[in-house]
Amino acid sequence: MSWDANYGSTWLLGGTRRDIGNPGPPAPLHRNPTSLIPCVGGRRLALVTKDFDHCPVLLTESLQHLNLQPGALVIDGTLGGGGHAEAILERTSPDGVVVGIDHDPEARRAARERLIRYGDRLQTVPSSFRHLDKVLEELGIESVDGVLLDLGVSSYQLDESSRGFRFGGTDADETPLDMRMDPEAKLAAADLLKAASAQQLQDWFQNYGELPGSRRLAKAIVDTRKEAPILTTADLLRVIQEAGIGRGRKHNPATLVFQALRIAVNDELGALRDGLDAAIRVLRPGGRLVVIAYHSLEDRIVKHTLRAAAKGCKCPPATPVCICGGTITMRVITRRPIQPEDEEVKANPRARSGKLRAFERTEAAA
Ligand SMILES: C[S@@+](CC[C@H](N)C(=O)[O-])C[C@H]1O[C@@H](n2cnc3c(N)ncnc32)[C@H](O)[C@@H]1O
Repeated sequence: MSWDANYGSTWLLGGTRRDIGNPGPPAPLHRNPTSLIPCVGGRRLALVTKDFDHCPVLLTESLQHLNLQPGALVIDGTLGGGGHAEAILERTSPDGVVVGIDHDPEARRAARERLIRYGDRLQTVPSSFRHLDKVLEELGIESVDGVLLDLGVSSYQLDESSRGFRFGGTDADETPLDMRMDPEAKLAAADLLKAASAQQLQDWFQNYGELPGSRRLAKAIVDTRKEAPILTTADLLRVIQEAGIGRGRKHNPATLVFQALRIAVNDELGALRDGLDAAIRVLRPGGRLVVIAYHSLEDRIVKHTLRAAAKGCKCPPATPVCICGGTITMRVITRRPIQPEDEEVKANPRARSGKLRAFERTEAAA
C-alpha cells in the first residue's frame, strides 16, 4: 500500500493500536504556513491550524525543563494538536522521536496533518497516557528521555460544541451532554446522569467540583430524570438554575458542575495517578517528566505522587526504621510550580490556571 493510502488509519501492533506513523517523505521544515505563528509577543510560538486551534501553554518552560538533546526519545502523553510535540521535534532535530499519545482521534489527525513534515519522527498512538508503559512495550522501547503531560482538554475540544464540554452557546439545546475525550469510551456524561445514584452524583460534584450545594443538585437531577432524561447541555443548565445553587459565589456553579462531570466521565484523576507511576517506570536515569496541571485537584496529585517518589520511603512518619523498602526514584526540579507570565495569559487566557512541575529520574533502581 502506498503511504497516502495508509495515512490517517490505524493498525494493530501487538495489542496496541497505532496510527500509521510514516505518512511519507519528510517535507522541508516550516513548510506548513499555518504552523509556527508567533503567539505571545513573538516570544513563544503558537501552533495553530484553522480547524484545530490550540495555543501550547508554558511552551518555553516545558522545553527548558525537559532538557532535551538532539536525538532524544520523548513521550508526549497528551498530543492534542501537536503544539508541544512540534517544538520538541524541532529541539531534538535531526533524529529525535516523539511518541504522541492521545485518545481523541481528532487530535491525532490534526497533529499528524500539522507535523507531516517530520515523517516517522512522530509516532501517534490511540491510547490513554495511563497505559504509556504498555504502549512503549508494544513499540519495543525500553526507556525514554522525557515525558510530557499537558493535562485536561484542548481549546479545540472545548470550542467544538458537538463534544459537549462547554455550555451556554446558542446551540445548547442541541448540544449532547457527551464530554468523552475518547469517543469510543462507553459512558458519556448523559449516561452518568441517567444511572448514577444521588450519593454518587453528590460525591462527584463535591470532590471534583468543590461545588457548594452538591447535595441539592444531586437531588434535583434525580427528581428531574424521573420526569424526562437530561440529554443536552441546556437540559443540565436548567436543572442547575432551578436548583438555585451557588448564587452570589465567585465561580459560576455551571462551570464547577461541568468540570466535575468531565473529570468523572474521563476518570481524569485515576488516569493521572496511573500515568505518573507509568512515567516514573519508563524514564531512563536523568530523564525528565514535565506535567502541566490546570486545577488544584490535578496539581495536588502531581505534587504528592512525585514528592513521595523523591522521598522513597512510604512508611508512616512515626515508624522508627524503614520497613517498606521504598527507594528514591525521582528528584524534584521545581520546588514551586511555574505559572505563565502575564504576557502569555493576555495572549491566551486559557493559560491562566496552568501550573508546571518538573522532575528528574534518579540513578536508583525503581
Ligand atoms: C491540553 S490538550 C494538549 C495540547 C497539546 N499539548 C498541544 O500543544 O497541542 C490535552 C490533550 O490531551 C488529551 N488527553 C487528556 N487526557 C488524556 C489521557 N488520559 N490519555 C490520552 N490523552 C489524553 C486530550 O484529548 C487533549 O487532546
